[in-house]
Amino acid sequence: MRKKIVAGNWKMNTTVADGVQLAKDLVAKLSEVPSDVNLVVAPPFTHLCPVAEALKGSRIALSAQNCADQPKGAYTGEVAANMLVSAGCAYTILGHSERRQYYGETSATLVSKLGLALENGLKPIYCVGEMLSERNEGRHFDVVKAQLEEVLFGLSADQMANVVIAYEPVWAIGTGVTATSDQAQEIHAFIRKVLASKFGALAEEITILYGGSCKPSNAAELFACKDIDGGLIGGASLKADDFIAIAKSY
Ligand code: 13P
Repeated sequence: MRKKIVAGNWKMNTTVADGVQLAKDLVAKLSEVPSDVNLVVAPPFTHLCPVAEALKGSRIALSAQNCADQPKGAYTGEVAANMLVSAGCAYTILGHSERRQYYGETSATLVSKLGLALENGLKPIYCVGEMLSERNEGRHFDVVKAQLEEVLFGLSADQMANVVIAYEPVWAIGTGVTATSDQAQEIHAFIRKVLASKFGALAEEITILYGGSCKPSNAAELFACKDIDGGLIGGASLKADDFIAIAKSY
């Protein structure tokens, strides 16, 4: 049985006080969510410690949205993997399309980030996904395959077992346009096939999340697909009721 995960990527939203309140609201509603659905929240760096405190004793796990590609030292503005662990994180999102697009993250940087996250005991939520032009040109399979091969194929099977994948088509992020369940299932199955070509049967154990305009009205249909093991939720994770409704719809 693959682990089911519904993760909220808060991106650059909320003040510390708002974020702590959101975390408390989620904890208060947690009993509505089936116990086999694992919840994760990824607040901004500034919120990690107080949100960890608000989540204490609950089954909601804490994630960062990024981590440094260096272990420590003179890298102004960066936050290292071991710091995230010391702040209470169990996960970190890596390779989100916004980081690739706006901050120039490359596969080489992501190899370093993933390695450091894993060395420090953090589970990476590694994001892949094509841009609209790439899908229109019929290149989405090649793009996603390269994103997987370039960053994950150097890992050992033991390391890979701790990685979660998130497929997030860039054209669906924050646009209100969701991939249809057929489009999403097709590429999730493809991702599993690519992983199997390197890691064999382990590919069946890897959790693959869908992200991109996932909301209470479409989550159930997406989560019902054979190779979709949950969601990485942006906008709808900022409202406790919506995030819980998505998790409940599993
Ligand atoms: P939206 O749910 O706002 O489309 O964002 C998806 C996303 O990028 C999650 O990482």
